[in-house]
Amino acid sequence: MKSVTGYGLLVECFWFALFCGSATHLLADSVYHKWEKLYLVHHWPVTVCMMNENECNNPPMYWTIHGLWPDKAAECNRSWHFNISELKDFMEDMREYWPDILHTNHTHFWKHEWEKHGTCAAQLETLNSQKKYFQKTLELYRKIDLNSFLSKVGIKPGSTYYQLTAIKEALESFYNIMPKIQCIPPEEGRLQVIGQIKFCFTKEFTLRNCTEEQSGLFSALEDDFFRTEDLSVCNDTLTYYPSHMKTHKHFAANVVVI
Ligand SMILES: *[C@@H]1O[C@H](CO)[C@@H](O)[C@H](O)[C@H]1NC(C)=O
Ligand SMILES: *[C@@H]1O[C@H](CO)[C@@H](O)[C@H](O)[C@H]1NC(C)=O
Ligand SMILES: *[C@@H]1O[C@H](CO)[C@@H](O)[C@H](O)[C@H]1NC(C)=O
Ligand SMILES: *[C@@H]1O[C@H](CO)[C@@H](O)[C@H](O)[C@H]1NC(C)=O
Ligand SMILES: *[C@@H]1O[C@H](CO)[C@@H](O)[C@H](O)[C@H]1NC(C)=O
Repeated sequence: MKSVTGYGLLVECFWFALFCGSATHLLADSVYHKWEKLYLVHHWPVTVCMMNENECNNPPMYWTIHGLWPDKAAECNRSWHFNISELKDFMEDMREYWPDILHTNHTHFWKHEWEKHGTCAAQLETLNSQKKYFQKTLELYRKIDLNSFLSKVGIKPGSTYYQLTAIKEALESFYNIMPKIQCIPPEEGRLQVIGQIKFCFTKEFTLRNCTEEQSGLFSALEDDFFRTEDLSVCNDTLTYYPSHMKTHKHFAANVVVI
């Protein structure tokens, strides 16, 4: 008797697991492909080089595009392959503002960005082709014009250090929103190094605050192309904004107040 019950239970469990398994799978799929806001991610090429030692020379001395990322989704359509011909009308801008800092051939980077992030962003009609996605990103980058803003207010790379709060206040007073600023955490006796600035947009492409995502399963989206997954939100302390790749020997030397 006991063994029969045991068997029945086992069969039920089997069907239950099968059902639950596929249900969770479907659920995961749809949840993973849902997103709310877009990050326009700028990175500082010198810092990217510092994080990928010996892999680059002559990084651009301006903030370049890392990507345009939906906040909670990745790889939404694996059969939508990258096609570089779609970028041919604005290839010059791609090379200048969205370069692969580590490699001379940028194709692999752009392919990665499309497949991981673009295929999810493409849920919007305004971004539903590769041409639209890359072009819109360039347009948003120009609109933000971060490089001009930073140099206008005197935040320049070099051997000076900035209080992060000063950078934050300057950005917030100009853009009226708070971008997300990420740094390499300080090595022993050194300062944090600024690495990425993420501006958040609504699905209608208006700037919004990058309020912190709730922690949990879907919150840890970071791109792994340049090992920037080692970056974390900067703390309100002194911050190094490097103009060259050599690790900074000094610290807390020249603090610039802006
Ligand atoms: C995925 O992309 C392919 C190729 O563009 C397209 O035909 C298909 O409809 C897309 N699938 C979804 C679910 O969007
Ligand atoms: C790639 O894009 C070009 C230009 O839009 C188009 O003519 C071509 O058919 C596309 N190739 C593939 C494989 O989809
Ligand atoms: C760059 O890499 C892509 C993908 O590997 C390849 O198809 C292409 O020919 C390369 N371009 C150049 C200029 O080497
Ligand atoms: C963004 O957050 C700041 C406070 O950090 C607030 O003053 C501002 O009104 C917010 N802006 C928008 C557009 O929500
Ligand atoms: C900021 O401080 C937190 C908590 O001490 C730490 O985990 C994080 O790594 C720090 N981030 C940076 C960029 O230093």
